[in-house]
This record gives sequence, C-alpha cells and structure tokens, in this order.
Amino acid sequence: LEISPFIASLPKVELHIHIEGTLTPALRWKLAHRNNIPLPYATYEELVDSYNVTYNHRREVNGDNGAPTFLEAYFAGCQVLCTEDDFYELAMAYLEKAREMNVRYVEPFFDTQAHTRRGVPAETVLNGYLRAQRDGAERFGVPSNWIFCFLRDEPLEDGLKAYRAALPWARTKDGRGKGLFHAVGLASNEYNRPPGLFEEAFLLSKEDGLHLTMHCDVDQKDAAEHMHEAIFDICAGTGTDRIDHGLNALDRMDLIQGLKSRGIGLTLCPHAYHRRQATEVLFPKIRRLWDEGVKFCINSDDPTYMHNVWIDGNMMKVHEYCQFTKRDMAKLVQNAVEMSWADEDIKKEIL
Ligand code: HPA
Ligand code: ZN
Repeated sequence: LEISPFIASLPKVELHIHIEGTLTPALRWKLAHRNNIPLPYATYEELVDSYNVTYNHRREVNGDNGAPTFLEAYFAGCQVLCTEDDFYELAMAYLEKAREMNVRYVEPFFDTQAHTRRGVPAETVLNGYLRAQRDGAERFGVPSNWIFCFLRDEPLEDGLKAYRAALPWARTKDGRGKGLFHAVGLASNEYNRPPGLFEEAFLLSKEDGLHLTMHCDVDQKDAAEHMHEAIFDICAGTGTDRIDHGLNALDRMDLIQGLKSRGIGLTLCPHAYHRRQATEVLFPKIRRLWDEGVKFCINSDDPTYMHNVWIDGNMMKVHEYCQFTKRDMAKLVQNAVEMSWADEDIKKEIL
C-alpha cells in the first residue's frame, strides 16, 4: 500500500515501538564494523536477508524453515550496540524518521537487559537514549517519553536489578530523576510467562510514580488468561494504563467489558498481525474492536524487522482495510494522545 498524502500529512503519535526494533541493516552494518563485532553474514545482502523472520517466538510453532524467529533476529541485532554513541545514533535515526512521517510525539520502549547481559553498562544505554531524547526534541521537534521494559522471559530478580539500575534516569514523583522514562512495560517472549509473575516489579514502579503497560501479544498461548490478569488483577491493584496488542480481547466478552469499564486502551500494531492473518480475517477484528467501543491507537512495533512498515504504513492499512474514514483516522490519533503520558502542553499542541 502506498502512503496517501492524507496519511502522510496527518499529525501522528507513536506509543508502541521498540527502539531496538528500528535498527536498520545499514546502521547495523556500520556499527558492526566500527565496533569490530563479527557478523555471521558474509555480505550485506545476507544481513538484509536475516531480517526475514518468522512470526512466532517459538521455533516449534513456526516449523523449521531455517528462518530466525523475530526475537532471535532482534536480539542478534542488539549485539552491535556497544557505546553511548551507538545508542544515541540509533535513537536519533528513529526520531529523524519520525519527523519525516509527521510523528509529533513518541513513547519508545527500550530494553536495558538485552544490553547489560552482553556486558554493556546500563548507563551507556541510558545516557545514549537520554541525549537523543533531548536532541531529538530540539533538532527534530519530536518530544519523547520512554518506557523501560522488563524482559519477561528473564527472572523477576534480574528485572528488578535492571530497574533499580535504571531508576536514576526515570521521571520519578520526587522530581529528581533525569526524566528519560516515565513508565515501565513488559516485553519479550510471553510463553508461560504471565504478567502476574512481575507484580512485585509493577508495584514498585507504581510506588515510584511511573505508569504501566504490558504486552499481551496476539494468539500467544494463554493470551486471554494473560489479558485477564493484566486487566483485572494487576491493573486493578495498581491502576493501569494500557495494554500492548491485546487483540485477543475479542475472544471473551469479559475482557472487552473490562477494558471499557477500566478505561484501558490498546496499542495495536496491525502489520505485525497481518504477517500471519489474512486481510479478511484480521481487519474485521480491528473493526469489531472499534464498533465495540474499545479504545485503541495504531503503531508499528519493530518496523525494520517487519518489512519496513512504519506507523504511516500501519495507519494506511486500517484506513484501507477497516474502512476507517478520514475522521476516524483523526480519532485514532486523538486516542493515541489521550492514551499517552505526555504533558498537557504537548497534548494540546498535537490536537
Ligand atoms: N514482541 C515481544 N517483545 C518484544 C517485541 C515484540 O514484538 N519487540 C521487542 N520486544
Ligand atoms: Zn511490542
């Protein structure tokens, strides 16, 4: 789908994008050489090929066609990120791209555990992103508030340790943090890792004054149970916020009702699901969520690992395949603004 002038010029807000999922083959190639990191690909073309990933996080579900799973490719990509400048460049490249797409405000996810477990100090990661947050707002006019992700397939204790290390970079309620992130999220492989396992971490971050969101990815094992926990247990106890993906709310009316009554919005990433679901299956589901009155917005997830479909391409798809009108598209942006944790002055500027 070609991006129409209407979608291109629509002011946009992105609430679900993993910064490490914006790493292009070109930047990866450059950083690998700069940092002397060997790449397991003989040529640049082979590297580009490695971005053709399988959808499911588990090999056994994909069948073995030799392609890496998404998470394998994503964490392999992370290996070239070593210095503060690397993280800065990655983030600045994304914020510049956001400006080009008329994205006015973003809340990117970042992982520190993906880097500290390779021996990169947390402060290297955090200082790189912090500098990009400031320069991206100044140079490209794209303000951002970031989201610290717990890797849910790592032990809770590791996540807590990573969180404590990152906390000086947060915007905590005592106002003393550096202001990079103002929320925590839950990402990586959710197989047998329900959100309740991280309740202690969520309570802690709530006490620190941070917002909370969590991935409930589409058609994962126990997807509806994970959503039920997120909506009724965790979120009820700690006062949330949002769910990332969450399309499986459609499986059960209690989930739809819970989202609506608690005012929890979904950050949908249509192209990510479109890789696996036929057009005539997927888009009527998104349309049904809309007709049910569930609040959601449209995002891109990991664009460079998902055929380079960015937020504009994702919005194009729902515009086209859900028969959303121009007015509906503007409402989707308004939803994103309302679901965001931007300061009021920034919200006013976008709308
Ligand atoms: N799914 C789960 N975890 C992730 C993703 C994703 O698409 N991207 C980065 N972490
Ligand atoms: Zn995601």
